[in-house]
Amino acid sequence: MGNLFARKPIEKLMAEAQEVGEHSLKRSLGPWNLIALGIGGIIGAGLFVRTAAAIADRAGPSVVLAFIVAGVGCTFAGLCYAEFASMIPVAGSAYTYSYATMGEFVAWIIGWDLILEYAVAASTVSIAWSEYANRVLEWFGMRIPYQWSHSPFEHDAAGLHGMINIPAVFILLVLTLLLIRGTKESAFINGLIVILKVSIVLLFIGIGWQFINPVNHTPMIPTPTTYTTPQGITHAYGGILGILGAAGVVFFAYIGFDAVSTAAQEARNPKRDMPIGILGSLAFCTILYVLFSYVLSGVATVEDFRSAGREASVAYAITKYMPGYEWLSKLVTVAILAGFSSVILVMLLGQSRVFFSMSRDGLVPRIFADVHPRFRTPYKSNMLFFVFTGLFAAFVPADVSGEMTSIGTLFAFILVCLGVWIMRVRRPDLERGFRVPAAPLVATLGIIVCGAMIYGLGWTNWVRLIVWLLIGFIFYFGYGKSHSRINEPPPEMPEGIKLSK
Ligand code: ALA
Repeated sequence: MGNLFARKPIEKLMAEAQEVGEHSLKRSLGPWNLIALGIGGIIGAGLFVRTAAAIADRAGPSVVLAFIVAGVGCTFAGLCYAEFASMIPVAGSAYTYSYATMGEFVAWIIGWDLILEYAVAASTVSIAWSEYANRVLEWFGMRIPYQWSHSPFEHDAAGLHGMINIPAVFILLVLTLLLIRGTKESAFINGLIVILKVSIVLLFIGIGWQFINPVNHTPMIPTPTTYTTPQGITHAYGGILGILGAAGVVFFAYIGFDAVSTAAQEARNPKRDMPIGILGSLAFCTILYVLFSYVLSGVATVEDFRSAGREASVAYAITKYMPGYEWLSKLVTVAILAGFSSVILVMLLGQSRVFFSMSRDGLVPRIFADVHPRFRTPYKSNMLFFVFTGLFAAFVPADVSGEMTSIGTLFAFILVCLGVWIMRVRRPDLERGFRVPAAPLVATLGIIVCGAMIYGLGWTNWVRLIVWLLIGFIFYFGYGKSHSRINEPPPEMPEGIKLSK
């Protein structure tokens, strides 16, 4: 039992983080790359697809407040991530922080849980990408047949079943190859995508502002009632409960800022730049989201989002209420497609980095830490996760995987908030590039808000999380525990690797 809760010494972690040479990742990212990485991972399906669902099912125009609530919850967690990432700048993110604070078993749980956040999110978004790729192809009179662009569990109105989602697998493959080619190259492409998608979102906000109909914003918070979706699920609508429910729905839109912390081992100056990357991208996206949801809920009516506009909310609102701006509707579709690509890229990057750290610690096989001799990226890990995410995307429907991502992420956030606090008590001496102000308060609020959102996700998701963790226990006790390298000497020990400053 002793080993189960053995903590990884910070000094050992730091020594590993400073390791250089052909077996280590390359430090190639500056502050702008990191902010762009965050924005690349954040703006995606959550904003473009879930905003409409939150308006329709839960909150009407008070979706704006829901974005603020979710943003505040993420800020608590973001501050804690920023402190950790500036203190322990290694690739494992929440996994590594837990290893240092709560011991190996909790670290394993969170590492396993992060698969839900990163790999499953990459699959989820690749499924949405496939849908939008078909829309763009339709402009040119083409379409990938239903069977080849849907999972076997889906069928259309005529009863035609899907077989495999080929476009989803395709985009996962392309982005995996890019990641293998190099982190710097990936960050460059991500930067271009971020400029494109942010410009189009700003364009929509700027132009759409003139088309806001004040009637749609009155009252800003609808009277509390309930709403039953076309799938027969009843939710609280309006009032405080509506806002909280909507916050849980749009939380997905914020996921990704924490992925910046997985790139800590590739940052040139992590102590300074990690907090900039994490908090900068989070703050920027929060402002953008609030403005975007204000405009969208002001342009079209709640009824629109409940009926025809549900699927293609932004494009639909433009076409119906903004005459003469059909080109903007097309641009938005392009932005969505591009946005989804960068989300997938950042999630795949995050996933391989977490497993890189877990593999170095012996908890998963060594293959996940093999670095390409020339590109200095964990290429085998990238390829293995391509297979995993590809299978998931090819055969699993998107709604299940989206909620699993949210619950998995919230769980990780809670442990990071808890960890920061523990670390302040146990190791107040450590140098921190960034310190959370009023740490116990912020950590407690983070835990409460994230806990409330987990509660709001409902028992089916709790069960899914528990089942997923139980599967993880089998792997831990079957492999990880016996292969753990916790008792091996750190790299600076006699047989060790030469360190650089
Ligand atoms: N935040 C990411 C998205 O909305 C996961 O697609």
